[in-house]
Amino acid sequence: MIPLIPTRILGMGSFVPPNCVDNTELSKRVDTSDEWIRTRTGILERCIAEDDQATSDLAFEASVSAIRDADVRPEEIDLVIVATITPDMAFPATACLLQHKLGLGKVACFDLEAACSGFLYALDVADGMLASGRYSCALVVGAEKMSSILDWEDRTTCVLFGDAAGAAVVSKKGKGPELLGFQCGADGSDPSLLHKPGGGSRMPATSETILKREHFLKMNGREIFKSAVRVMERAVRELLDKHSMNMKEVDHVIPHQANARIVESLAQRLEVPIEKFFCNLDKYGNTSAASVPLAIDQGRKEKKFTTGEVGILVAFGAGLTWSATLVRF
Ligand SMILES: CC(C)(COP(=O)(O)OP(=O)(O)OC[C@H]1O[C@@H](n2cnc3c(N)ncnc32)[C@H](O)[C@@H]1OP(=O)(O)O)[C@@H](O)C(=O)NCCC(=O)NCCS
Repeated sequence: MIPLIPTRILGMGSFVPPNCVDNTELSKRVDTSDEWIRTRTGILERCIAEDDQATSDLAFEASVSAIRDADVRPEEIDLVIVATITPDMAFPATACLLQHKLGLGKVACFDLEAACSGFLYALDVADGMLASGRYSCALVVGAEKMSSILDWEDRTTCVLFGDAAGAAVVSKKGKGPELLGFQCGADGSDPSLLHKPGGGSRMPATSETILKREHFLKMNGREIFKSAVRVMERAVRELLDKHSMNMKEVDHVIPHQANARIVESLAQRLEVPIEKFFCNLDKYGNTSAASVPLAIDQGRKEKKFTTGEVGILVAFGAGLTWSATLVRF
């Protein structure tokens, strides 16, 4: 099952906007409290982009770091995938805007929308495109300006999310952590669990949709919580089964950073000590598609992962989508 020539992460980078808002500060704007947010989610603060900063600006900063870290020349990159649910605009793709900002060649660019699972979906897609032999070096980015779609009058959602970007340069040539396997899935039976109903072809923008606040993220938190734990457990088990491995052989789990209680429940169901999980959601909240690459980048900068160790990256998101990736650092 392990590809003959695995895709490798040649370099990574991440970016969070400098404006960090802690729970106490947030409670001045929203009817909430530090105690409620901390105990229900584990989040202590989140970073919020400036009004004039769009998702491609966050993606740009993370990508510059990733390209530098990978030590590749920009002209070597022949594929750009941006995973996001907060593109700069409906079209063109944020990936095209990013290509231009980075001064890359006129190479293939597209956005991928799998919500919080987006970065891991994008790694799977990039791996397949690299395996075809038609591409040789991909820039894969997860970037979100979640603050642009949050309803700041809905305390059940706005306290959970933050803005960030994470990027990886991947190729089948060169050195770096190997991507050994992928497991993506989705269940589209109930989109209303987590969605932004307005602004698409089903509900184009009108003054009425704006008044009804249909252009903001809406979520059934309790149902999402239960589904998240269930689908992430299943994705991890299916991925390990595919590779005839078990959790004892896994040194690190880097989960989507949505909620500390979701991570704890996942650890219990997988019967893995919580110490194996890397978490930074206390600082950044849920940054959707940026969450996993931001966590990997921070973890490796803190030297949490040793060469040769095995990690599982796992995420879930609106769709519902889920994805797990096996990596050897
Ligand atoms: C959102 C979440 C933290 C809510 O926690 P919960 O324990 O389920 O809380 P509930 O929704 O049952 O709300 C409990 C009470 O807290 C209140 N409440 C909700 N948000 C609040 C806030 N920010 N501050 C204070 N009180 C709040 C509710 O109004 C409710 O009050 P009531 O009992 O008087 O009606 C939790 O469901 C969750 O994390 N779900 C998953 C969300 C997620 O990860 N989404 C991203 C997917 S990628």
